[in-house]
Amino acid sequence: MFADIKLLPPDPILGLTKAYQEDPRTKKIDLGVGVFRTLDGRTPVMKAVSQAQAIVDAGEKTKSYTAGEGAAGFASAILNLVFGADSDIVKSGRAAAVQAPGGSGSLMLAGGVLKRAGAQGISIGDPTWPNHKPLLSAAGVEISMIPYYDHASASIDFEAFHEAVKELGPKDVLLLHGGCHNPTGSDLTKAQIDTLAETALDRGFLPLIDFAYHGFAKDLESDAYMVREFARRLPEVLITYSCSKNFGLYRERTGAFIAVGPDADRANAVKSHAINVARTSYSLPPAHGGLIVAEILNSPELSKMWRDELTEMCATVRGNRRLIVETAEKIGLGNRLSFIQSQNGMFSLMPITPDEVKAIIEKHGVYMTSAGRINLCGVNANNVEHLVSAYRDVTGA
Ligand code: LMR
Repeated sequence: MFADIKLLPPDPILGLTKAYQEDPRTKKIDLGVGVFRTLDGRTPVMKAVSQAQAIVDAGEKTKSYTAGEGAAGFASAILNLVFGADSDIVKSGRAAAVQAPGGSGSLMLAGGVLKRAGAQGISIGDPTWPNHKPLLSAAGVEISMIPYYDHASASIDFEAFHEAVKELGPKDVLLLHGGCHNPTGSDLTKAQIDTLAETALDRGFLPLIDFAYHGFAKDLESDAYMVREFARRLPEVLITYSCSKNFGLYRERTGAFIAVGPDADRANAVKSHAINVARTSYSLPPAHGGLIVAEILNSPELSKMWRDELTEMCATVRGNRRLIVETAEKIGLGNRLSFIQSQNGMFSLMPITPDEVKAIIEKHGVYMTSAGRINLCGVNANNVEHLVSAYRDVTGA
């Protein structure tokens, strides 16, 4: 049975962590997987999470199964966070949420539900997170890549993107990054989001918004512009939400599949299918992360503590963006990397070839994906000169 099974190469993102850890050099930088890091390279448990966890553990009375929609209080708390507590979308019941194992689990549920709904294809702007395609196509929906990013100008080619979007019809789905675009860091402007919402209304395609970095671009309110506008203007939207980054719950695998329908009945019908898709794969969501998120969001004190910590993390990443741009200018790279400062979230794409990436890893111990994606959280005052000098050395910039 297994005679022809070949050993797979390491995962293009997760494999970098292992390679970095096994590198014996002390002068090395991990800019691989998207996790937040402190100045000394740690990914700490957020204080609000520790406190919520203690409360959850103290009150735990059973390890019996969770409900299909997830831990008690999780779904409603996430809906209030995403759309705003007073929003008509929440009050009318037009939105329904199911807890899922991380953003990845939510995307897998979306693929399954879309297949059942008769989706013909999912269009995704190029480049995207490498796991989008396998997760969304697992149930059998076709994926098409459409233009999004112009590498030469390090910015969105909105004209080309919009031209392709205008071709979509009622059986099509458009995947959008809800903010902090992975891997480019180049987000749609409010005006571009408005244009896309109009086009979606006109053409009838379904927007699927992958919202994995809520609070990491600017703040929780302005980062929610796309999901709120699309839900307000359109009858149907799907959202895949991750609590990995903004709650720092990476290994707890906590996220949500959110369906917005024209009314509560339709939203609940879609939700029932998401629960059923889960039932026929991993059965039920894990409780722990959902209980922690619910505990935080349903407590004013813990909520404030969490929001303050998130604001600080977001400011740190923005500061790291500034640091890299200033250092590049200082060592004579001019404004070659200045585009990094105007982008959002954890990632940017360095102007670098795959061969140069190989060289920067081998020669300088600077780990990034072969496409040149860097995690800005891994940059700090202690390592930024090494990073920029290594970049200059391998690219001859
Ligand atoms: C990333 O893109 O680095 C993160 O979303 C982690 C992952 O699962 O790839």
